[in-house]
Amino acid sequence: MSAPGYFIAIEGGDGAGKSTQMARLAAWLREVTGREVVATREPGGTELGQTLRNAVMHGEHVDPRTEALLYATDRAHHVASVVRPALERGAIVISDRYLDSSIAYQGHGRELGAEEVERLSLWATDGLLPDLTVLLDLAPDAARARMTGELDRIEQADPEFFERTRDAYLERVDLDPGRYVVVSADADIASIQMETRGHVARALELDPDLIARGDADGEADGDADGDASGEAHGAPHGEAEP
Ligand code: TYD
Repeated sequence: MSAPGYFIAIEGGDGAGKSTQMARLAAWLREVTGREVVATREPGGTELGQTLRNAVMHGEHVDPRTEALLYATDRAHHVASVVRPALERGAIVISDRYLDSSIAYQGHGRELGAEEVERLSLWATDGLLPDLTVLLDLAPDAARARMTGELDRIEQADPEFFERTRDAYLERVDLDPGRYVVVSADADIASIQMETRGHVARALELDPDLIARGDADGEADGDADGDASGEAHGAPHGEAEP
């Protein structure tokens, strides 16, 4: 598609600090570009998505195919009702997780097969891919140590599951390096943010001097639960800040 907007996905394992980084990135982009910036998430970027999120993360046990279909349903509705309309308005859309999450978690984690899961997601979204995907990479052991509170249904998977998801993300980057940037999430919030901004600034051809503008460590914005987009995000994330 050739909508006038720009679509960024933030990906990574549970505990990588995506939500925190994403909120700061969205605030910075609003400030330095003056463009509409839509910060959203999967699953749960819509009202129906909230119901699906609750079902898949906190509901009864479901088999891997049902799980994959629930995420794909959330994505189809999210793209049709939030992401595409925003891109068509010319907005910058930043999504906390997108199709690569399904490939990593359902394709590899649940071992449904990356190609089939990718096909399912591409069908669900009518082929919409992000212009840029930022992978916040963190070793599963370090990620697990950051998780706070009660683990949801996905987070309860065994350690090998998280090894497979991490490897899957890195494999995706190797297959198509032009569409991805990898940022190590094993650093403090401000450094991760600055590196992320650098990649996004290059992709959007922004003046590099703008990277240092505004708050990068988030001390003052008070999003203690790590969920900070303040827009289409609904339920609070249980992800700890690095
Ligand atoms: P996230 O909102 O990042 O979790 P949290 O609120 O704990 O920070 O993601 C929700 C969970 O759903 C996470 O464990 C990853 C999983 N997930 C999939 O398994 N497949 C998908 O396609 C998506 C989008 C998420």
